[in-house]
Amino acid sequence: MSPFFLNINFVLYYKKFMNILLLGSGGREHALAWKLSRSSSLEALFIAPGNAGTKSIGTNVSIDPNNFEDVKQTVLDNNINMVVVGPEAPLVNGIVDFFGEDNALKSIPIIGPNKVAAQLEGSKDFAKEFMLRHNIPTAKYGTFTKETLKEGLVFLESMKAPYVLKADGLAAGKGVLILDTLKEAKEELSGMLLDEKFGDASTKVVIEQFLAGIEMSTFVLVDGDGFKIFPEAKDYKRIGEGDTGLNTGGMGAISPVPFAASGFSDKVYNQVIIPTVKGLKKDNIDYRGFIFIGLINVGGDPYVIEYNCRLGDPETEVVLPRLKSDLIDLFEGVATQTLSERDVEFDPRACATVMMVSGGYPGKYEKGKTIYGLNSVQNSLVFHAGTTSDGPAVMTSGGRVLAVTSLAKDIESALAISYESIKQIEFDNSYYRKDIGFDL
Ligand code: AMP
Ligand code: GLY
Repeated sequence: MSPFFLNINFVLYYKKFMNILLLGSGGREHALAWKLSRSSSLEALFIAPGNAGTKSIGTNVSIDPNNFEDVKQTVLDNNINMVVVGPEAPLVNGIVDFFGEDNALKSIPIIGPNKVAAQLEGSKDFAKEFMLRHNIPTAKYGTFTKETLKEGLVFLESMKAPYVLKADGLAAGKGVLILDTLKEAKEELSGMLLDEKFGDASTKVVIEQFLAGIEMSTFVLVDGDGFKIFPEAKDYKRIGEGDTGLNTGGMGAISPVPFAASGFSDKVYNQVIIPTVKGLKKDNIDYRGFIFIGLINVGGDPYVIEYNCRLGDPETEVVLPRLKSDLIDLFEGVATQTLSERDVEFDPRACATVMMVSGGYPGKYEKGKTIYGLNSVQNSLVFHAGTTSDGPAVMTSGGRVLAVTSLAKDIESALAISYESIKQIEFDNSYYRKDIGFDL
């Protein structure tokens, strides 16, 4: 037998086929499921709870990712070899620690940070202290509790408008208030601390200097030692065109971000990414998984607005289509701390996604609308966010419904393809922003 055949046999024999359980149910998870399903090492993919989109590429399991006993049962029932955690809540609630402490689960890799590491997202105060300790550029701040409300009010007087108040804990993306007058800021601070406006999340409040600039996000996959930088992205958070109206989970996203060209991205690398990864090591925080760094470009300099302990949504829908490498291979690198030895390659093309939402979102909206035309879309990837299915019919089940994603030579062309594809999709009272990328 020639050495060539020997080699092939060797690979086939030793290649490990994986049963993977992915936790979550949004557009981010459909994009993760899609990318995992393209790996040659995937045997079977389970998504808990998933949506109508993930159902077409794997098996949905109807459990709550925050019910760790149910997650354990699903892992054991399906001989799962790896768990990938999409959203932040199970991470902040300690699912990685739960696996580590359970004899039946501790040998199964789970991709995502442990409870302490997830505090980078789970506590704004923890994140600010971390940044201060490691000289990572961020807005000036103070942290206050019920007991130090008086000092908080005095601190507000020392700041300039607009005033930024942040609930310390997870508040479903609603815990940041930006207020124009000192009077409102004082009232809100009292409301947050005394009346627990955001429940337990606002037992501590971070008051921050307002930073003016354009935002973008960068994503780093970390294995506790080495790391890989993923493409940056920019999302469009407001419901209305021209970035107006209420905040949403995200109405669209693009990658790459034109202003992140070499000068700025070198600063992000040297002033933010390296000090973050080194800081985690110095503090003995064993971080394994994605770090999402929310940045603001203030006059050409990057400042960190927030850390998240997971990928973004809809950013994932533009980042993962640009990943050429095998995602399971990279996750194995995270699990075995061999990420540095692996290659990561990205598609130089641009990617854009436009989110179709239910009319009324982010306020009140109706669910259960039948979605038509999904199979007619030829040139875009349609990632499901809030969908469910009944036989062949797909229905809306959330505010953000579909992320219509396209790759092309530049952002303008990618957006044009997504907008063409959207014309083929229909559901009652649908809405989308027609100006994603307008500011670039
Ligand atoms: P966060 O949950 O920390 O990402 O904050 C939500 C949004 O509030 C951010 O995406 C920014 O648009 C805005 N924001 C947060 N902190 C600041 C700040 N210090 N200055 C200006 N805008 C901010
Ligand atoms: N798109 C913002 C987030 O995922 O937090």
